[in-house]
Amino acid sequence: MDEESLLGVETDKNGNSVEVRFCRYENMPIKLTAFFVRQWADLLEAGHCTENYVPRINNSRIIYAVCNDKIVGLRMWVWEHLDVRIILSAVDQSFRNQGILKIIIKYFDDRVISAGCNKTFTTIHANNDKMLEIAKKSGFEQHMIKMIKVYNNS
Ligand SMILES: CC(C)(COP(=O)(O)OP(=O)(O)OC[C@H]1O[C@@H](n2cnc3c(N)ncnc32)[C@H](O)[C@@H]1OP(=O)(O)O)[C@@H](O)C(=O)NCCC(=O)NCCS
Repeated sequence: MDEESLLGVETDKNGNSVEVRFCRYENMPIKLTAFFVRQWADLLEAGHCTENYVPRINNSRIIYAVCNDKIVGLRMWVWEHLDVRIILSAVDQSFRNQGILKIIIKYFDDRVISAGCNKTFTTIHANNDKMLEIAKKSGFEQHMIKMIKVYNNS
C-alpha cells in the first residue's frame, strides 16, 4: 500500500494491528471503491437506507482501516463549505465490535477539526440502533426527524 496515505498504526480490541489510511476520491484504490460499494449494498439490504439511493462520491475523502493488507473499515465524507457531511461509516462484518470504527472516528475528528470544520452531520436509519448509539457516544445530537406515513396502496 502507498506509504504516503498512512496516518498511523493502532491496535484494536483483539490485539490486531490496524493501519489507518487517508485518500481522496481521485486516488481511491480499486479495493477501496469495491469495499465501499459492498458496504453500501449491505446497508441497502439491511433496510438501513433509502431503497433507491446511491450516494455521489465525487470530491469525497476517505479514512480507512487496513488489517493484514485487507481493507476492513472506512468513513467517507464530503466538505460542504465549513461543514462535513458523512456519506458512510462501515466496518467489515467479521471485524465488527473490536473498536475499528472507534479508531477511525478518532482520526476523522482530529483531521476535520484541524481543517477548520464547524460541524459534521449524517443520516442514520431509525432502526440502525447500533449506529445511532455510536453516533450519540461520539457527540452527535438528533437534529431532524423524517416522518413517513404509509398507505395500504404501497
Ligand atoms: C456501525 C459500524 C460501522 C460499527 O463499527 P464497529 O467497528 O463494529 O464499532 P466499534 O467496535 O468501533 O464500536 C464503537 C462503539 O460503539 C458501541 N457499540 C458497539 N456495538 C454496539 C451495539 N450493538 N449497540 C450499541 N452500541 C454499540 C461500543 O460501545 C463502542 O464503544 P466502546 O468501545 O466505548 O464500548 C458497523 O457495525 C457497521 O459497519 N455496520 C453496518 C454499516 C452501518 O450501519 N453504517 C452506518 C450507516 S449510517
